[in-house]
Amino acid sequence: MKQLLLQKIQNKDIVVGVVGLGYVGLPLAVEKAKAGFKTIGFDVQEKKVELVNSGHNYIGDVVNEDLKEIVSKGMLSATTDFSFVKDVDFIAICVPTPLDVYQQPDISYVKSSTESIAKYLKKGSMVVLESTTYPGTTEELIKPLLEQGSGLKCGSDFYLGFSPERVDPGNLIYKTKNTPKVVGAIGEDALEVIAAMYRAVLESDVHTVSSPAIAEMEKILENTYRNINIGLINELAMLCHKMNINLWEVIDAAKTKPYGFQAFYPGPGLGGHCIPLDPYYLSWKAREYGFHTSMIESSMMINDKMPEYCMERAGDLLNRSKKALNGSNILVVGVAYKQDIDDYRESPALVLIDLLKGKGANVSFFDPYIPEYKHKGKLEKGEKNLTPALLEKADLVVVAAAHSQVDYELIQKHAKVIFDTKNAMKGVKNRNNIELL
Ligand SMILES: NC(=O)c1ccc[n+]([C@@H]2O[C@H](COP(=O)([O-])OP(=O)(O)OC[C@H]3O[C@@H](n4cnc5c(N)ncnc54)[C@H](O)[C@@H]3O)[C@@H](O)[C@H]2O)c1
Repeated sequence: MKQLLLQKIQNKDIVVGVVGLGYVGLPLAVEKAKAGFKTIGFDVQEKKVELVNSGHNYIGDVVNEDLKEIVSKGMLSATTDFSFVKDVDFIAICVPTPLDVYQQPDISYVKSSTESIAKYLKKGSMVVLESTTYPGTTEELIKPLLEQGSGLKCGSDFYLGFSPERVDPGNLIYKTKNTPKVVGAIGEDALEVIAAMYRAVLESDVHTVSSPAIAEMEKILENTYRNINIGLINELAMLCHKMNINLWEVIDAAKTKPYGFQAFYPGPGLGGHCIPLDPYYLSWKAREYGFHTSMIESSMMINDKMPEYCMERAGDLLNRSKKALNGSNILVVGVAYKQDIDDYRESPALVLIDLLKGKGANVSFFDPYIPEYKHKGKLEKGEKNLTPALLEKADLVVVAAAHSQVDYELIQKHAKVIFDTKNAMKGVKNRNNIELL
């Protein structure tokens, strides 16, 4: 099986299946198709399938023309029908791994997509989980589900591995194609073949590790490292405010050290589908071993407190001009979870807006990437343009994402008071009405 697959990879005679056509899956499907592998995308959302099949892009990191071209050449198609799995040799699973209401892993998407694959899995295929998850998922959950559902045996009938996705939406340098990839698999043959498949598509290094659990833990380490360092810097932001020290200037100074320091920045909280969620996958799994991941818990406590802390600071700012949150007009600029993207999943700005509204403030928002958002089942519409009149009407402007497309000079000129939680206005000279987090 190994030799045959290696030969097929070399001849580009492999049909690729990508399950889950979201922020991770669609760019991956596009890269595989661009590299000359016929690719079928699977999703449960009819709308996404229709968009892909008509060559319409909906993910910021995918180039519209690339998608159009590979679809028109028949190199990429999409479907909701999993029976097409029988035509596929290599399957990457890129479905969501969120948390449930108790902040515990919700592995239901991984389970249901694996069950759908198992029904049609053919002998001689490769399956790789790319979704971020707790160490052990591939061997303890995916392997038995695939074996039971297909009647095939892992290692002799199909190969199974884990390769974490590292996509950084909005990153202009590192994309799916040039970001190094880590691969772990069950058995040496599986590792060799799955790594060969990634090498055939990517420009970057493919780093192999000795088991799927190493690769699963490696991904959680990356994201926990970020989470904890952001927690540290958020805590320092609260301290520095009390000490009247500008933390942003402190970080700029620390950054001059050429080794041993990496800059992280404070903000109104954590957002996105990765950093605020993934460490909980590890803390949950750790409890199976009677182990408490205390650093993760501490950092989560700090990060989760940030929207509330920002609300308090907003209240203090209004207080200076004898105003209360209750009844004030507050304009939030930027509701995406980070700069220059249109993703608002888990965005702390939405939590902050809810908190401000809860105190009786009239909150409006402007985001050049997000004209409207849905939160807790409610559709919220944003301001279409950032105008002098809109800014002058606000008692306070809160900058909650550092989008580069925003006219910060205009904000400074027309806003009464500004609370800049991301140092987005660092380029603005006149700073008499700007307060930093
Ligand atoms: N977005 C990121 O920046 C990023 C970065 C690295 C890793 N990841 C990880 O990658 C995984 C996917 O994240 P994403 O951001 O692409 O999610 P997403 O929500 O953008 O996309 C997931 C897609 O899977 C589809 N889906 C759900 N259930 C399905 C099923 N049973 N069968 C087929 N399709 C199904 C959804 O309809 C959706 O289109 C997650 O585990 C995430 O943690 C995400």
